[in-house]
Order: sequence, then C-alpha cells, then structure tokens
Amino acid sequence: MFEEGQYFAPVNTDADGTVSVELGENHPGFADADYRERRNAIAALALDWQPGDPMPTVAYTDAEHEIWRLVSAELAVKHRDMAVRDYLGGAERLMLPRDRIPQLAEVSRALEPLTGFSYVPAAGLVPLRDFYGVLAEGKFHATQYIRHHSVPLYTPEPDVIHEVIGHANALAAPRFAALYRVAGEAARRVHSEEALEFVSRVFWFTLEFGVMTEADELKAYGAGILSSYGEIDEFRGMTIMPLDLGTMGTIDYDITKYQDKLFDAGSMDQLEDVVGEFWATCDDDAVERLKAEVKNR
Ligand code: TRP
Ligand code: FE
Repeated sequence: MFEEGQYFAPVNTDADGTVSVELGENHPGFADADYRERRNAIAALALDWQPGDPMPTVAYTDAEHEIWRLVSAELAVKHRDMAVRDYLGGAERLMLPRDRIPQLAEVSRALEPLTGFSYVPAAGLVPLRDFYGVLAEGKFHATQYIRHHSVPLYTPEPDVIHEVIGHANALAAPRFAALYRVAGEAARRVHSEEALEFVSRVFWFTLEFGVMTEADELKAYGAGILSSYGEIDEFRGMTIMPLDLGTMGTIDYDITKYQDKLFDAGSMDQLEDVVGEFWATCDDDAVERLKAEVKNR
C-alpha cells in the first residue's frame, strides 16, 4: 500500500462520485467498517473543497475527541523532556486545545498572527511539487481524519494529530516557520524530479524526523517523532548521524516503521546554516553536485 515518499492511502472517486480511501491490509483500521466509512466521508470533504472556500468543518464524534485527549496528554508530558525549546515555545504561544480536536480553521486563525502560516485541507496524498511548493506561501496541507483507536501511540499515515500537534507547534515558532518556507522555495526553484526528491528527503530527515542536541541531551524537533508517543520513546536509541545534506538527500527510509536512522542537527543555528541555507539557495546543479559527491565517497 505505501510506497516511499507516498505515505498516504490512495483516495479514489468512482463514476458516481463516491469517494473511497484504500486502506492496506496492515492498516489498523483495515477491518473496521465504521472507521473506513468515516475516512471516506472526511476525504470527500477535502475533495469538495476549492481554494477560497471556508475550510471544511468536521463534526468529530466523542470517541474521536477521546483519542485526541489521550494522545495529547501523553505527548504533552513527553514533550517537556524530549522536544526542542523552539518547538515548546511555539506550543506555548499556540495553546492548542487538549480536550477536543480543533478544526483546521481555528488552528489557522491562531497560527496566522504568529508566523503567517495557515492550513489547506488534503484528502490524502498531495503531489510533492504542490505539497512543498505552497509552503513558500505559508500554506500547509493537512488531513483531518484521526488515527484508529486501536493503536493511538503510532499511525502509519499522517493524521490530524500529526498535522496539528506535530507540525502546528513548529509552524508557530518563527525559526522553524522560516525553515518550512525556504523548503517550499527550494521545491519551487528546482526543475528536475530528482532534485525535488532530494529536497523532499532532506525535509523528511529534518522537519519530519530531525533531532538536535540541547545542553548535551538529544531532543526531537521533527513532527513525525513529536506526534507519536511510541516513537518519541525510542528515538534516542536509534542510529544518530551528523547532519549531512548528501546523505540525507540520498538514503532510503521505510515510512511504515519507527525511523532507525536520524540526523543530529547539532543546534538550531547549525540547522539554519546548513539546511536553511541549502533550501534558500539550491538549484538543480547544486543538487547534482551533492549527489555526485556522495557517489565518489
Ligand atoms: N507516525 C506518525 C504518528 O504516529 C504519523 C506519520 C505517519 C508520519 N507517517 C508519517 C509522520 C510520515 C511523518 C511522516 O504520529
Ligand atoms: Fe508531516
């Protein structure tokens, strides 16, 4: 079901307009007919949405709010020890609700005055060029469904918990928001699919799964670690490598498991100097040079 770089279940619309989300056999909600129906209905809302429309409002059920409450409470405790300072600062300013799933419209209203970012609804996979490109304009694509209740500590696809707790708290922090924006500018500047792929892998190993050292302790800033209270307990035991653009842009990863290779950015300054600077200036040639350099090692 999942291919690398494409971590959403496919969304299909048939001739009469019926929307169906294709969950794979390994998905925790695969055999749950109610969950699948819910996923289809929420995907249909995003597909109906047009730019300029108000953001779709999802009438979440009590059971769905309960998953948010459980995961929010687990994560809030772990973030205190495991998340980097800038992310915690973003969370403090954004003040996401802990007791219910917020609507993307309200998260956008809170985020915009902080860093100019707002959400755009996504039914599932958004083509790389669009997903990254619109970051340059301060827009972030997000899904609105919530993970299956049977495995709250980790989900194989990004859900509203990941999009909001993982990403919005970072997007509320000016230094991270600036990094998301330059990632978008990079995606718009490069022409070849190979260069875009490289830019997106660097994003994966930094803004999705990045770690850095603060006061001699390894902390996470990647949204994919910070939205999973299963993965957050494990990242310190993974293989930790020094920040290296060539390696991040070319190594493979398995999107269906806890990430076992992580890159330590060292510090916020170094993340900005190396990765921010790369995204702010790279073009197809720069990416080619980095790839050639990795090959010749
Ligand atoms: N595993 C993450 C969580 O439980 C969500 C997630 C799934 C994800 N696939 C991803 C995050 C890919 C980042 C990239 O919250
Ligand atoms: Fe993400």
